[in-house]
Amino acid sequence: MRHSSDFSPPPASASPRAAAPSPSTSAPAPRGPRGLDLWRTQLQIQRDPLHALAAVHERWGPLVRLAFGPLVFWLTNDPDAIKHVLVDNAKAYRKSRNYDGLRLALGQGLVTSEGALWRRQRRLVAPAFTPGSIVRYVPDFVTAAEEAAERWAQAGDARTDVHHDMMELTFRIVGRTLFSVELGGDSDRIGPAFEEVIRFAEARAMSLVRIPATWPTPANRRFARALAELDGLVERIVSERRARIERGEPGGHDLLAALLAARDEEGQPMDTRQLRDEVLTLIGAGHETTANALAFTLYLLSLHPEWERRVVDELASVLGDRSPTAEELARLPILERVIEESMRLLPPVWGFERQALADDVVLGHRIRRGDVVGVSTWGLHRTPHLWANPEGFDPDRFLPEARRERPRLAYLPFGAGPRICVGAGFATLEAKAILAVLLRRFRFALASGYRLVPEPLVTLRPKGGIAMDRRARS
Ligand code: HEM
Repeated sequence: MRHSSDFSPPPASASPRAAAPSPSTSAPAPRGPRGLDLWRTQLQIQRDPLHALAAVHERWGPLVRLAFGPLVFWLTNDPDAIKHVLVDNAKAYRKSRNYDGLRLALGQGLVTSEGALWRRQRRLVAPAFTPGSIVRYVPDFVTAAEEAAERWAQAGDARTDVHHDMMELTFRIVGRTLFSVELGGDSDRIGPAFEEVIRFAEARAMSLVRIPATWPTPANRRFARALAELDGLVERIVSERRARIERGEPGGHDLLAALLAARDEEGQPMDTRQLRDEVLTLIGAGHETTANALAFTLYLLSLHPEWERRVVDELASVLGDRSPTAEELARLPILERVIEESMRLLPPVWGFERQALADDVVLGHRIRRGDVVGVSTWGLHRTPHLWANPEGFDPDRFLPEARRERPRLAYLPFGAGPRICVGAGFATLEAKAILAVLLRRFRFALASGYRLVPEPLVTLRPKGGIAMDRRARS
């Protein structure tokens, strides 16, 4: 979940060169800025990564090389190159050191671990996210959305920050579906703690010099306080769930029960630290991204009332007055296309990086061990030869026939390959369920004068939230 500006040194193991695949002899020299131009580009990337990373491709083509002495960064928006790095030759890459800031918080959870540990944990977590499992969460998605709708109906029409509202809702849902705990009341404390952690990780990824996290700087202290808050939450979740299992109370077979029951080859349970890392990772990865997608969808629908009307008509014809079932959610193609188009224009994870573990060849160019390859999803989703009128909002780009005309990896909201988002199906179904409930009951209009400022932290967030006027539909 990172972008392409890790200017920290590659690991020591990066220097020796293994026997390499050969670059094509006809390949032109790699393109990219040099000298002063290079530093100017780096400054632009630091200041405004979303636009600067898209602009490098306009100027230098689909594979751009930024070399700072031995530190080499490749940026690509070419679907074949992306497929090679993320899917076909994924074994030759790891997540880059840009994830280190996040690792300080999430430890060795599924997002930040590597190798055998990652494989074992992915096998443990994946069954909770199969199509058969996520369908069972639909009643929780719907109930949580209906409870929110009820509270809002009682409160009456109001101006609200829909990003905050969506964070609260998805946070509650992660608690109920994955851990069988009630997290509603914690959201106002935990939200800011996660934000602090994300800002810390982002600042670390962006800075040339990384101050040790143990030094008592103000930023480190804030980070430590936020982490203590999050650790307290995880402890509460785990101990509540454990106590209920010990009392023999039914709590369903949620993901946390599976993690607590897991045994390794020697019959040992997962150690406390690993359990903490996994739970915190799932809370973090599992609520903010979906909340951002939901808030951005409401924002874009308010700018495109013709699509809002189509969605509301579809909901009326498929659902009437009923709460949606899983089967009905599968019959809402317009809503689905609207969500997909929202994640194209405003991808909640706006870019990521990999670091080569061995020499490789990408688009005919030699990538050396230790080099970093970055993809800006924001930029990829706006590449003009892949997307006509890239800034336009047009959900019909996701009609089956239009989809077939594009390379599959032109669209990457959930990543690709072995590290693809484990929660992609969960998030999509959750977003559909929530919007199906809320859009039938409320209309959301942007507060006058509001201007969206997308803020590229680890995730893409609406800076300062999204102010909207929420009105009950008659
Ligand atoms: C719209 C919502 C979501 C978006 C856009 C999203 C996006 C992504 C992306 C792009 C990655 C891959 C990052 C990389 O390759 O560097 C990822 C990984 C991950 N996501 Fe999501 N995600 C969403 C929702 C969720 C949910 C609901 C969960 C869990 C409940 C979740 C859990 C994870 C985990 C655990 C990983 C790491 C997987 C691994 O490396 O094996 N995500 N997500």
